[in-house]
Amino acid sequence: MRRSMMLVAAGLVVLSGVALVLQSDGASAQEMGEMEMGKMMEMPFGGPEDVKFAEGLWKATHGYQDWMIRSDYFNGNSPHGGVNRMYYDIVTVDATPYHVIVKDNFGGDGATIDTVGEAPADYLMAVTVMVQRESGYDADNNDWFYVKYGADGMIGQNDMQMSLAGRVAKGMNMGCIACHQNAGGGDFIFTNDRTMK
Ligand code: HEC
Repeated sequence: MRRSMMLVAAGLVVLSGVALVLQSDGASAQEMGEMEMGKMMEMPFGGPEDVKFAEGLWKATHGYQDWMIRSDYFNGNSPHGGVNRMYYDIVTVDATPYHVIVKDNFGGDGATIDTVGEAPADYLMAVTVMVQRESGYDADNNDWFYVKYGADGMIGQNDMQMSLAGRVAKGMNMGCIACHQNAGGGDFIFTNDRTMK
């Protein structure tokens, strides 16, 4: 009799343990949900700060076509258009200097290295830029800021009308970060991989 009482007691302890586990699982699932919402609210890209920085950046990079460090026209890959040209400089936005890589994305009917070279403005489809921001801006992804402009300097948007400026599209399996994180050496830059063997 005494023994069975103990068994029942032990059983209760086990049961309440299970209940605790279930409860804590339930709570953490809810917390997870809140975290996801939190992430969405925080907006890794396209927020007012990102747009403001991108607008300042467009002004600050004015005349980038004449920067000293630039590539020739070269045949590019999707999604960057058939012909590309890259430019590098250090540019000051809001009184802070940043490393900036600009990439002209050329395309359209008849776009070849020769035709684009003769009349670049006729074939410019987009200007994609990467800026290395202050440390901690996006510690998981080497602190790069991404932006896509039209040839006229207007900031591009995705299907959800989010501006393509900032940590684009952090946490998603498509977009600037998802692709650039495959670059060799963990620096999110592809171009230097050509010489890095
Ligand atoms: C599907 C893959 C992919 C996506 C998405 C992508 N890129 Fe790239 N990007 C590349 C590749 C590959 C290169 C290397 C040059 C080449 O061969 O075209 C490159 C080059 C660049 C460069 C020159 C620096 C480097 O890495 O060599 C910049 C700047 C750039 N991309 C910006 C962007 C921005 C901004 C976005 C988002 C709006 C974006 N890219 C989305 C694949 C991608």
